[in-house]
Amino acid sequence: AKDGYELWLDYRPIENSIMRSEADRLFSGIFFFGKNPTYEAIQKELQLAAPKMTGKAPIFSTERLNQTQVWLGTREELAQVFGLQDQVTIRNLGEDGYWMGPVVFQGKTYFTIVGNRPVGVLYGFFDWLKSLQSGSFDSNKVKMESPKIQLRILNHWDNLDRTVERGYAGFSIWDWHRLPGYIDPRYIDYARANASIGINAVSLTNVNANARILTTDFMKKAKVLADIFRPYGIKVFLTARFSAPIEIGGLKTADPLDPEVIAFWKKKTDEMYQHIPDFGGYLVKANSEGQPGPHEYQRTHAEGANMLADALAPHGGVVIWRAFVYSHEIDEDRHKQANLEFVPLDGKFRENVIIQVKNGAIDFQPREPFHPLFGAVKQTNLGVEFQITQEYLGQATQLVYLSPMWEEVLRSKTFRPTPNSTVAGIVDGSDSGQKLTLMAGVSNIGTDRNWTGHLFGQANWYAFGRLAWDPYLNSEQIAEEWTKLTFGQNPENLTKIKGIMLDSHEAAVTYMTPLGLHHIMGWDHHYGPGPWVTGGRADWTALYYHRADSLGIGFDRTFTGSKALEQYAPEIIQAWSDSEQIPEKYLLWFHHLPWDYTMKSGKTLWEEIGLHYDQGVKSARKMKSTWESLNGAIDPEQFSHVSQLLGIQVQEAEWWRNACLLYFQSISKRPFPSEIEQPE
Ligand code: GCU
Repeated sequence: AKDGYELWLDYRPIENSIMRSEADRLFSGIFFFGKNPTYEAIQKELQLAAPKMTGKAPIFSTERLNQTQVWLGTREELAQVFGLQDQVTIRNLGEDGYWMGPVVFQGKTYFTIVGNRPVGVLYGFFDWLKSLQSGSFDSNKVKMESPKIQLRILNHWDNLDRTVERGYAGFSIWDWHRLPGYIDPRYIDYARANASIGINAVSLTNVNANARILTTDFMKKAKVLADIFRPYGIKVFLTARFSAPIEIGGLKTADPLDPEVIAFWKKKTDEMYQHIPDFGGYLVKANSEGQPGPHEYQRTHAEGANMLADALAPHGGVVIWRAFVYSHEIDEDRHKQANLEFVPLDGKFRENVIIQVKNGAIDFQPREPFHPLFGAVKQTNLGVEFQITQEYLGQATQLVYLSPMWEEVLRSKTFRPTPNSTVAGIVDGSDSGQKLTLMAGVSNIGTDRNWTGHLFGQANWYAFGRLAWDPYLNSEQIAEEWTKLTFGQNPENLTKIKGIMLDSHEAAVTYMTPLGLHHIMGWDHHYGPGPWVTGGRADWTALYYHRADSLGIGFDRTFTGSKALEQYAPEIIQAWSDSEQIPEKYLLWFHHLPWDYTMKSGKTLWEEIGLHYDQGVKSARKMKSTWESLNGAIDPEQFSHVSQLLGIQVQEAEWWRNACLLYFQSISKRPFPSEIEQPE
């Protein structure tokens, strides 16, 4: 039985006989053109994979001809065997790219994987294994790949006491207490998993940061992790608490223009690079939700970020500065605050600063329109932040495949800087022209045996890596890859599992927050429905967001309301300010409308709300019944794990529907549509 620990690297016997004999042949003569820790990692991976895939141990050749079948090396190492033209082609694949295909040398063909750096070879190697495993390998075909985004980073919201903010899969996998002396084998498996999907950076600590991570003791611990990750091409970042100069530096201020503060950060950073020579840089949450920042000293985000950037620049490090800022002291729609603070600073950030922007302007809701900062600045590097952990999406209890949601955001047209620009085009630099590019994912990883709590949480980790590599991939293809690696090749199983995955996000939106409703979850924990939530700060309550009253429901963000819509391109303002033109999925995000408003279907808004919640429940039930039909066809432990969780998911879908409809009915005072299951 499978407990999920192996993730998508759970190599299994190759089913396809042609593939199987290809693998047999190729694994019998592997030659590396050089020697380094990354090639050793490849060897170890093959020693693990080959026996499981073919029943035989791999054979590593000591010389490059005769018994050899496969060549691995960098472009420089393989210079003699490639013509000039090929060398240029490969060089253009960049730092992390790879070329693989047949190379004929003295009449014999060698299947060859080449990168510009060893890590490119590693990425190619994983791709090759995957293609053998899933039956798509063709030894005569040339394949070239290079990532479209430079920094493909996981953000762990892990605290130093091993609790994980918004983590639902156990404790933090970073065992700070036993570091630096003890190396948990999980660290290596973590690195393998990330490298296999192209993730090349990790921020180890919570954005609500603890300054202690920057003390020498903790640097020594982080160094051990960085050393383990290095052969896998993964760089370490840490979160920098803006008030660290006061908390661990003994200073009276953290003013970014104060010479002593500047000296503190320079010294800290120099020390960091002594421990971790390829340290990635700092990730910073400042002046948001009570975190310290430059505003305390009447300085801007740019002044704060640049001060850190200057300390990192001599070492090639980067500042990732988050745009998730809002303050309850400002009486302004929270939707607008990031643009209000960052647009005036356009052009003021150093080159080694990148602003990390959540996919939407509120906070990782089940569905959000894209963040208006994308397209609103011209001279500022912007990266996108997705949340892999399902804070607002049923946490580790529900099966929600997030790739379709991310795809929707990435493909959204921003109409700026060019008429055809999309979020993906801004983030990968093709539309924005920015050189530094980033996609971040808030990790869903913890100490649970299966890493992510819900088995299908693994698919979200996987999909994040794949989209960070290529933001134009489609969710169906990614689901198919992951499903084959996790459940095997059976086409019937594949169709069913893929179907469940691809329906799951829309289902969750429909039973949680249909038609543009948002932030109506339970207070603070964000689990389950809570549209009645009041009290505390206004922008943490459900009422602030749904604004239901006797007349209608929805948040007016048009020109008659908060005017948040104003922050988008004119094309969007024009279409979305009209309640008839805006896609209905965003309707109540931007409009407050009467309960009896006529929808595209001809039904009233009130009726459509009822029909949506009801449809959401039906979709959840369908996911469950499709899954039940896999009983006996897949591993029993995996089957039962997901089956039980889907049971809870159906109950929770009903809970959402009943709670929301009964609550809204107490305000709308209208009967439910007769065709739905009546909530009680
Ligand atoms: C959400 C989340 C917080 C987190 C914050 C952030 O508000 O609930 O736990 O700290 O996002 O992204 O900074």
